[in-house]
Amino acid sequence: MQNLQSKNSQIKAVIGTQWGDEGKGKVVDLLSDNFDIVARYQGGPNAGHTVKFDGKTFILHHIPTGILRPDISCVLGNGMVINVESLMEEIEQLSDKSIDVFSRLFISENAHIIMPYHIQLDCASEACDDGSVEVIGTTGRGIGPAYADKARRTGIRMGDLLNFNILEKKVRSNVLYTNKILETVYSKKPCDADEILSLLERHSRLIKKNIINTQQYFYNSVKQGKKILLEGAQGTHLDIDFGTYPFVTSSNTTIGGASTGLGIGPKLIGDVIGIMKAYTTRVGNGPFPTELTGEIGEKIREIGSEFGATTGRPRRCGWWDGVAGKISAQLNNIDYLAITKLDVLDSFKSIKLCVGYKINGEIVQYLPSDPDVVDRIEPVYEEMEGWNTELREIREYDKLPVQAKKYLERIEEFTEVEILMVSVGPRRSETIWKKDLT
Ligand code: IMP
Repeated sequence: MQNLQSKNSQIKAVIGTQWGDEGKGKVVDLLSDNFDIVARYQGGPNAGHTVKFDGKTFILHHIPTGILRPDISCVLGNGMVINVESLMEEIEQLSDKSIDVFSRLFISENAHIIMPYHIQLDCASEACDDGSVEVIGTTGRGIGPAYADKARRTGIRMGDLLNFNILEKKVRSNVLYTNKILETVYSKKPCDADEILSLLERHSRLIKKNIINTQQYFYNSVKQGKKILLEGAQGTHLDIDFGTYPFVTSSNTTIGGASTGLGIGPKLIGDVIGIMKAYTTRVGNGPFPTELTGEIGEKIREIGSEFGATTGRPRRCGWWDGVAGKISAQLNNIDYLAITKLDVLDSFKSIKLCVGYKINGEIVQYLPSDPDVVDRIEPVYEEMEGWNTELREIREYDKLPVQAKKYLERIEEFTEVEILMVSVGPRRSETIWKKDLT
């Protein structure tokens, strides 16, 4: 039996190190030039990238931005949950702008489908104010209920679109079950199985040929020496196991999720690149030790345009959290950091970095799992002088102001991870490479 060997890190992964929205889209876009395949392994349309390319604007929720480069194939892995209707809208949007998607997009037959009733359940649960459920502040895209059906073993998968008899049986029984919950628990209108079936039938006609066995696709691609970039969605601290549970998403956003979400053995994954914003943001509810609720937080939000790409919600903003960053580096075995949005801090006189959590007088370097303890965290800060200079035009690391370099060096030292690149603006060109990755 032939075992595949990783050839000089033929597969690299990009992971969010915070609570999502770290700017992974830009980094994946920059890196994807050197790859043949870009693959997503978890999450679904809770993610969102707005990309400007060739003077056109694209909003992508499922499809990796790699699709904008004509030689790259994109994969939606088995670990994902897919809203077929919104995926079709993305494909149409790309096709309308003359980007050929059908010959380069491959969807795992084992990926689960987000049904209209998953969205109804997600929104109904989030609207509860009677104390019967914890309100998470989800994106309302049906992510949790779709993964719940996967775990309950009643989920409907992309492969089911290829066999209408099975699909019909599954949809009818799931609708029967879900309607009981919608009507009796949430006092909502029931959903209609015929409507769902006709929607799925209409869309499946167009994407049938793109649904494949992606495990075999990856095995063969690795054997052929193809270079593969794995794109994580959300961030490490939204991971269902290691995040700030229950205020998390419903998938494994950390590096292990890449392996199970695509069917690629962990030993084949080479460099892991952690994307880290120069400060911290979070959308939705849940712990956020370095959150700034006053003027400074407001200023970061405004300069950084910190509003959700999927829901438009204002993001909560705070100082860089070294403890969260360090945990992320450890959990994901991060090889390099990509620091994004450093320019957002250009006009701050002084900047704080959180280097510990004080709990009951003791300083710790981990996030406790007990929510009551998390509430009592006092961040321990170091304060640094700001650089008070515009960074946008700078392209060489050595030309950065000394204060900015000190800030970055402290991040490297604290997380024990080397910086690969620094982003100083949204454009591709507004990037400083500290190291050559290839
Ligand atoms: P869900 O993934 O929609 O169930 O939402 C669960 C939590 O994850 C909520 O706090 C969301 O705001 C957060 N979340 C989900 N997707 C993203 C994302 O792409 N960026 C940032 N936060 C996200």
